[in-house]
Amino acid sequence: MVNHVNNRTYPAFVYVVACLAGLGGFLFGYDTGVISGALLFLARDFDLSVFREEAVVSTLHLFAAIAALFSGFIADHMGRRWTILGAAVLFVIGGILMATAPSLALLLVGRAFVGLAIGTASLAVPLYVAELSPPAVRGFLVATYQLMVTIGIVVAYGIDLAFAPIEGWRWMLGLSIVPAAVLFLSMLFLPETPRWKLRRGKPDQARKILARMGHTPSEQERLIKAADKNLRAQKGGLPELFDRKLRPLLIIGMLLALFQQITGINTIIYYAPIIFEKIGLDSPHAALLATTSVGGVNVAFTIVAIWLVDRVGRRPLLIFGVGAMIVGLGALGGLWFLPDSEVKGILAVLCVMIYIAGFAVGLGPITWLFLSEVYPLRVRGVAMSCGVFINWIANFGVALTFLTLVDAIGAAITFWIYTALSMLCILFVIFFIPETNQKSLEEIEAAAIH
Ligand code: BGC
Repeated sequence: MVNHVNNRTYPAFVYVVACLAGLGGFLFGYDTGVISGALLFLARDFDLSVFREEAVVSTLHLFAAIAALFSGFIADHMGRRWTILGAAVLFVIGGILMATAPSLALLLVGRAFVGLAIGTASLAVPLYVAELSPPAVRGFLVATYQLMVTIGIVVAYGIDLAFAPIEGWRWMLGLSIVPAAVLFLSMLFLPETPRWKLRRGKPDQARKILARMGHTPSEQERLIKAADKNLRAQKGGLPELFDRKLRPLLIIGMLLALFQQITGINTIIYYAPIIFEKIGLDSPHAALLATTSVGGVNVAFTIVAIWLVDRVGRRPLLIFGVGAMIVGLGALGGLWFLPDSEVKGILAVLCVMIYIAGFAVGLGPITWLFLSEVYPLRVRGVAMSCGVFINWIANFGVALTFLTLVDAIGAAITFWIYTALSMLCILFVIFFIPETNQKSLEEIEAAAIH
């Protein structure tokens, strides 16, 4: 396939790998998206209180955070590929447990397994794809992971709709087993990353994989030499991570991961129908239609990001995207002061779409891309763990507090808080996020450690 950035042809295998490993992203989107539709019915079957409903939803986030904390260490020691295989097994076990759960307790155990799987996949898949990618298309390929997340969310909405008439919450939760099994089988046949092989001192195996991923012989040699030089310059392990040279990068990654959540994305992804209903789209049909279009805009603008990320770079997309989020959120907050009318409902949908489009071109894909490409090979997994852990904890916190905040201080002020946080985020990006476009992972690493 001819690549759009440098008109070079890379083997189709390069794109197939990104899509198959991206199933980890699909499952992330599916399992976080599907629960809203399933909750309605399982709450009735198990006679759940609001607190127990919240437990069903948030167990996933807590366990994802726990897994994020450990999976970087596992990925550094066992390899990226085995870590994703482990995540696929956890997805399958979680899916089976949820679909067959005879009691709330077992349902929670199932959600915990899926949480562990998502936390692991959200670290290991971007890492795996980044380390396999040729530099010119790394943005494209890692952003494909985020595209799969957004597709997973939309498919989950669709499955919820399809099974609602038969109240089939077990189907909704259990169908995730299918992509999980495909992920497992695919990873049996996909290679380990060349960088991890180099870290293990196996340059010949690394060379073979690099060739399969479309690196020319001279690119392979240059990369192996550069990686070797970088590896010799470091000791690895935790002391290195908190070393004076790497500490700023570690903090920048953690802050970006935090901003991805505290600028409010999941208030929309999880609660869009409630928001639309509150602002006056009072027929459930209209609210649902609006929610589905939000999912569509998320997918569409992630495709825009994929197309642009290796052409214009990461920083411009982040700055433009967060700028759009500020406009959408600020206006959405203001709408609450208008008198009720049909126009108000339509404007609200428009504001939310501008916001989602901004997230989809910037913070959505680029957070994962940034975390997977800026850390040195010796500590890459562990360093990523810090960012991914913060991301899941913040996701948990925002999801848990949003409705309470709206009740306590009103929707307008709540959205303006997210607007203010987005303003902070844009300043943070302008002053602290380095550009990594078109550089090899080894060049990025050399700039960080030498
Ligand atoms: C975020 C998720 C979010 C999703 C929406 C991901 O990058 O980490 O929290 O739900 O994007 O597309």
